[in-house]
Amino acid sequence: MAKSGMKKKLERIFDGSKEADVILIANTSSKDPNFSYITGIVGGLFEGNILLLKRDSAKLITNQLEYELAASQKPADLELINASDAKQIKGILVRELRGKRVGVNQNAITLDLYDKLKSEYRPKEILRSYSAFSDSRSIKDDEEISKIRKAAEITKKAMELIKKEFKVGVTEREIAQKFDYTCRNLGSESPSFDTIVAFGKNAAMPHHAPTDDKLRYGDIIKIDAGSKFGNYCSDITRTVIFGDDKGRIKDYSKKLEIIEIVKSAQKAAIKAIKPGMKGKDIHKIANDYINNAVGGIYKGTFIHGLGHSLGLEVHDSSKPRLSPLSDDILKPNMVVTVEPGIYISGFGGARIEDDILITKDGAEIL
Ligand code: GLY
Ligand code: MN
Repeated sequence: MAKSGMKKKLERIFDGSKEADVILIANTSSKDPNFSYITGIVGGLFEGNILLLKRDSAKLITNQLEYELAASQKPADLELINASDAKQIKGILVRELRGKRVGVNQNAITLDLYDKLKSEYRPKEILRSYSAFSDSRSIKDDEEISKIRKAAEITKKAMELIKKEFKVGVTEREIAQKFDYTCRNLGSESPSFDTIVAFGKNAAMPHHAPTDDKLRYGDIIKIDAGSKFGNYCSDITRTVIFGDDKGRIKDYSKKLEIIEIVKSAQKAAIKAIKPGMKGKDIHKIANDYINNAVGGIYKGTFIHGLGHSLGLEVHDSSKPRLSPLSDDILKPNMVVTVEPGIYISGFGGARIEDDILITKDGAEIL
């Protein structure tokens, strides 16, 4: 029988954490993204829920609050245990963990749980399994890619629809709200992160939070936003000039110039992407493009990494990074953002960002 998607993931994770007999994923008040990676369940809080993973099986210890939701969405081969009683949960954990080599996500487990693990469940050893998840998550399967594709489609469509809301006097906050509403209407379950809307000189700040500042004719408008679909994120940025009467727009040609340079830098970087290249090689292509444009007048204005892995998290904990120091090797079925920018304090800025699937011989814009 063909292996299920969950079994394939478990095999990859245990290949990357060979010493572990069992891996414990424990949610706190927030969900560990690795919980969503294994269960695929959309929605719910699953606070304090625990996954016990083995190479060929997985158990979810949940409770009455989430049981029905979990049962309706879980993979067929994920065993579901409805355990609301602390003694019952302790019994299960003692049975499963005592004397075993137990892998944990060392970047998520709390110190309290770590202490409890040692004193009450008494494993033989506690191992760090974070990178096994991160490596596995860096290579997306077809289902994950189709979810990111859909998430990107929603955000790109919303980027078009939002244009009809651009009017003199509208605030950044209003545009952000309407953008999020539009994405929900198009089928997204939530934003991937807090929507960034920046008018005018606010566009010089890469992560500007929307304010009550009002749109003026001729302002640069920068929107950076993402939608989640099936737990997977998109992350798209567009920069435009509001209005087309060039004569009425202060510094029109400079505004257009920085947008066009950033677009061309992005195009050059995407065109160069091939499996086997390092993250820093791709960053350098965009960075050199910006630094050398128009006799070097924008040198040093691209102030962040070119991109990041995208998946269950918007800045996914998985590889690769496209940044000046990144030796991460690009591989087929990785998904990254490519997002060069120019930022000029007191003037404004531009960023263009798309979500890119690395293919066998190049890249595809999702
Ligand atoms: N979309 C925000 C960022 O990637 O930094
Ligand atoms: Mn991004």
